[in-house]
Amino acid sequence: MHILVTGGAGFIGSNLVHFLLEHRSDCRLTVLDSLTYAGCRQNLARWEGDPRFRFVEGSITDPQAVDLAMQGARTCLHLAAETHVDRSIHDGAQFIATNVGGTQVLLDGARRHKLERFVLVSTDEVYGSIPEGSFRETDPLCPSSPYSASKAGADLLALAHHHTYGTPVLITRCTNNFGPYQYPEKLIPFFLSQAMQDHELPVYGDGLQVRDWIDVEDHCEALLQVLEKGSPGEIYNVGAGHEVTNLEITHTMLDLLGKPKSLVRHVQDRPGHDRRYSVDTTRLRALGWKPRHEFRETLERTVDWYRRNQAWWEDLRRKREEYQKFYEQQYAGRLGG
Ligand code: NAD
Ligand code: TYD
Repeated sequence: MHILVTGGAGFIGSNLVHFLLEHRSDCRLTVLDSLTYAGCRQNLARWEGDPRFRFVEGSITDPQAVDLAMQGARTCLHLAAETHVDRSIHDGAQFIATNVGGTQVLLDGARRHKLERFVLVSTDEVYGSIPEGSFRETDPLCPSSPYSASKAGADLLALAHHHTYGTPVLITRCTNNFGPYQYPEKLIPFFLSQAMQDHELPVYGDGLQVRDWIDVEDHCEALLQVLEKGSPGEIYNVGAGHEVTNLEITHTMLDLLGKPKSLVRHVQDRPGHDRRYSVDTTRLRALGWKPRHEFRETLERTVDWYRRNQAWWEDLRRKREEYQKFYEQQYAGRLGG
């Protein structure tokens, strides 16, 4: 089994590479990643030199890089994307170029290389917010942010390729992941790194927004299940069913770190902020998948990982001048108010 993993140097991608190479001895992987600010080749350092692993540095928007990366691959797990909602609100152009344009280039490549399966890793955010109940795969898309709109565009494009060319596309729509190697701009790693330095935690609005948190390893297992057992043309929701408010998760993280709740600072809300995400995972569970990890246990492991790997996230925060500039712009007004 030779799989192309796009975005393999990012958070979920690097966890997926570890998961596949650790659990599948028959597995060969090619990673295609352009190493944006969110990609970190060091995450994959332990596999360098392993004959089952190949790294191609290049963009999914570049047909030549895609051709090179697809050589020998039979299937593709497509994760490469611009992923941070706040950045997409700040400037959405790169999100369309990568998430829609890059997916188009990959779908064309999948056709040329006659891939047997192409899994597009999408998000629950394409459905938009739901006050109660849970979205099913047949529900209409109603994305709220430029990020989720670009992901919805990629979903529709992939389904059109299945319909028009018979490309064996499968789509997964997962809820919020957490675990090691998550870039320290997303809620959990950002707040952990802030709290460890005794800096304020900027909670948007009242902090009562609800997210369903899943251990990244459970997501990786779901992707493998869909790759091996899913039906082309189908969409599979992925979620652990563990819904908590941002404020609850923030307080739990502070407790685990032994830091005071006074670090919480309510700031101006994110524009267009989705209140609640929730998906129905019946279809995926029918393939035999279920989440194996408990929320509390994963959060404890994650806190421990960020404690032990302070150099990893400090390095990312220090090196990325752009990151600093972005956050200064993003939070200057909010923290002051
Ligand atoms: P991430 O931002 O941590 O990593 C993205 C990776 O893609 C990085 O390694 C980056 O270098 C790479 N990349 C970006 N543009 C590229 C390009 N043009 N060509 C090649 N590589 C490029 O993201 P993540 O959180 O690991 O998310 C991975 C995928 O899973 C995304 O498609 C995202 O939409 C989806 N997803 C994420 C979550 C979540 O909670 N993190 C939930 C559901 C779905
Ligand atoms: P995030 O990790 O950006 O994921 P998403 O927006 O894709 O769900 O944010 C998770 C939740 O945390 C979301 O409701 C926004 C909120 N949040 C804050 O309150 N403060 C922050 O600094 C960040 C980054 C997120």
